[in-house]
Amino acid sequence: MPSSYAEVYRSWQEDPDGFWMDQARAIDWFEAPEKAFDPDQGAYGRWFVGGVTNPCHNCLDRHVASGRGDQAALIYDSPITGTKRSLSYSEMLAEVEAFAGALADKGIGKGDRVVLYMPMVPEAIVAMLACARLGAVHSVVFGGFAASELATRIDDSKAKLVVTASCGIEPGRIVAYKPLLDAAIAHSHHKPDATIVLQRDQHRCELIEGRDFDYAELMSANRGRKVACTPVAATDPLYVLYTSGTTGQPKGVVRDNGGHMVALEWSMHAMYGLKPGEVFWAASDIGWVVGHSYIVYAPLLHGNTTIVFEGKPVGTPDAGTFWRVIAEHNVAALFTAPTAFRAIRKEDPQGSLISNYDLSGFRALFLAGERADPDTIQWAERVLGVPVIDHWWQTETGWTIAGNPMGLGLLPVKYGSPAVPMPGYDVQVIDDAGHPVPAGTLGNVVVKLPLPPGCLPTLWNADERFHNAYLAEFPGFYKTADAGYVDGDGYLFIMARTDDIINVAGHRLSTGGMEEAVSSHPDVAECAVIGIADSMKGQIPAGFIVINSGVEKSDEEIEKEVVRLVRDQIGPVAAFKTVMVVKRLPKTRSGKILRATMQKIADGQEWKMPATIDDPGILDEIAAVMTKHGIARKAD
Ligand code: COA
Ligand code: AMP
Repeated sequence: MPSSYAEVYRSWQEDPDGFWMDQARAIDWFEAPEKAFDPDQGAYGRWFVGGVTNPCHNCLDRHVASGRGDQAALIYDSPITGTKRSLSYSEMLAEVEAFAGALADKGIGKGDRVVLYMPMVPEAIVAMLACARLGAVHSVVFGGFAASELATRIDDSKAKLVVTASCGIEPGRIVAYKPLLDAAIAHSHHKPDATIVLQRDQHRCELIEGRDFDYAELMSANRGRKVACTPVAATDPLYVLYTSGTTGQPKGVVRDNGGHMVALEWSMHAMYGLKPGEVFWAASDIGWVVGHSYIVYAPLLHGNTTIVFEGKPVGTPDAGTFWRVIAEHNVAALFTAPTAFRAIRKEDPQGSLISNYDLSGFRALFLAGERADPDTIQWAERVLGVPVIDHWWQTETGWTIAGNPMGLGLLPVKYGSPAVPMPGYDVQVIDDAGHPVPAGTLGNVVVKLPLPPGCLPTLWNADERFHNAYLAEFPGFYKTADAGYVDGDGYLFIMARTDDIINVAGHRLSTGGMEEAVSSHPDVAECAVIGIADSMKGQIPAGFIVINSGVEKSDEEIEKEVVRLVRDQIGPVAAFKTVMVVKRLPKTRSGKILRATMQKIADGQEWKMPATIDDPGILDEIAAVMTKHGIARKAD
C-alpha cells in the first residue's frame, strides 16, 4: 500500500487522542476541549469533553468572517420543478439567522426538538442550520415515509415544533405533505406546539389558525435580524436521525456537536480529497444520513459549495441529468448510491449522454448506502474515466468506516471491497462466539470500542436499547450487524446484514417493521417479509401471507390490500409491491420462520434443508409459489 494511508492509520493507532486533538484544531471552539476521548463521561464515554462550540458558526459565520461570504454555499438545482437558485455564504447566514429568530419566537431554544418533514429545497437546510444555531435538536423525517412513521418520530423525540412544506414532488405526482402531517399529529400522543409550513406554488395547503405558521411570512418578518449562535457543549446533541431497527420502532441515532464536526471536516479532505471552495454534490436526500453529513454539514464545514438536487437520476428529464448538473455547477466530486448508477445505465447503457457535457472538472465518484456491485463500478469507471470509490458506513457512524481515501492517495481498487478502515476504526471480523476468524473467512464485522468521533454516543432516550442493540453481543466491540471478511491485504468485503434490515435502492428498511404492518391486516393469520435480490434496487421486499380460514375475499384482493397497507403505514419508499398467499410458512420445530432459507430460494442460491425444519414439504410449496410469481430462479 502507498505509505500515506498506512502512515496516517498508524499515526492514529499509536496515539488516538493526539490524532483527534490535531484534527479538532480545524474547528472553531468557543472553549477548547480538554481531551479527546473521555471513557468516564456519559454511558459509554464521550468525545471532546469540555469543548464548547456551535455547528452553525462553523458552517457559516466563520467562513463569512474569513472572506468566503460571496462564494456559493448552496446551489439548488431542481429539474423536477425547473428551478435553480444559488445562495452565497452571506445570504445563507442571513436566511438562517432570520429563521432562527422565527424559531426562537416560537419558543425554541437549546435542547428542544424540532422535526423537519421537508422535500429537497434550500429552506430545509436553512431550518436544520437554524436549529443548530439555537442549540435545538433537529430530527429530519424522509418525505417518502407515511404519516404513522412521522407520528412515531414526533412521539419519540417529543418535538416541540414541526417544519414542513405544502408538498414534495415526485415524478408524475405531487405528494401533499400537510395531510400526512395532520394525520401524524392526530395519531401521535405527543402534540407539537406549532408547525411552520413552506407553501410551494405546485400545491398550496390550508393552515390551521393558531397552530400552523407560514414560512415566508415568518421570514419576511425576521429578515435582517441578528441571532447569535448559542454555545453548545461538544457532547450536546445536534440531531436525532431515526433509522430502521429490527422492529417497527425506529432507533433514534444521536449525533453530537464536537465529534461530529471534527470527523466530518477530516473526511472532506482525507476521504473525499476536496479543497475548500470546490463544489461537492451528494445526490441523496436530507432525510438520510448521507444527506445530513454530506449535503449539509461536511461541505459547509469545509467551505465547499453544496448542491441541493431535487430530482431523480433518470426521468428528470433523462439519464443525462447528473452529467448536466456536474458540468453546469463544476462539481468536483459526486456521492450517490449504486442504485442511481444502475438506473442511469439501464436508460443509457453506453453512457452516450455524457458526451453532451463538459465533465473536465469532475474528479471522482463515491458510492455508498448499499453494496456496490463490481459490474456497476466498472461501468461507471469506463463511461466517466474517473476513480469510482466504494465506501462503507452506516447511519450510526455518520461517516466512512472503510473506504479508499482519495485525499491520502488512492490505494489499488479491489472490486467488491470498500477497501480499508479509516483512522478511528479498528475493524475486526469475529465468529458468533466472539473469536477472530482467519483472513478470507466470513464473520461478524465489529469495531473495537471506542468508536471514533462522529459516531453515535447512544440512542435518543434509550441507553439500554443502545447497549443491547450494539454492544451487548460482543463485549468490547460495536456490532455493525454486517457480515463480511477481510482479505490477506487488509481489504474489507461487506456481504450482507446479519439482522432483518434490507437495503432498497440505498434506503434502509426493516422487514420486521413491514411484517408488523402486514400482520395488522385482519385477514392475515401470519406472515413473513424477506428482502430479495433486485437488479435495479439491490433488494426489494417480498411478503408471504397465510390467510385466516373462512375468509371469502379472493387472494388477489387481499394481496392488493396488504400492499396498500404497507404503503399507508410505512410509506411508498418501502417499495413493497410483491405479496404471495401461501398455505403455510416454513418453520423450525421451535416455531421460527425460516426466512434465510426462503431468501436463498428466492435469490436462486444453493440452500440446504434445515435439520430443524418442522415439515420439509413446505419449502417445496413456497418455491413453487415463488416460481409462479416469477421470483425463484433456481430452487433445487
Ligand atoms: N417523498 C415521497 N415519496 C417518495 C420520496 C419522497 N421524498 N422518495 C421516493 N418516494 C416514493 C417514490 O415516488 C416511489 O413511489 P411509487 O411507488 O409511487 O413509484 C417510491 O417512493 C419508491 O421510490 P424510489 O426508491 O426512489 O424508487 P423509484 O422507482 O421512484 O426510483 C431510482 C428509482 C433508482 C431512480 C431511485 O431509487 C433513486 O434515485 N435511487 C438513488 C438512491 C439514493 O439516493 N439513496 C439515498 C442513500 S445514499
Ligand atoms: P444506512 O444506515 O442507511 O447508511 O445503511 C447502512 C447499511 O447499508 C450498512 O450496514 C450496510 O449493510 C449497507 N451499506 C452501506 N454502504 C455499503 C457499502 N459500501 N457496501 C456494502 N454495504 C453497504
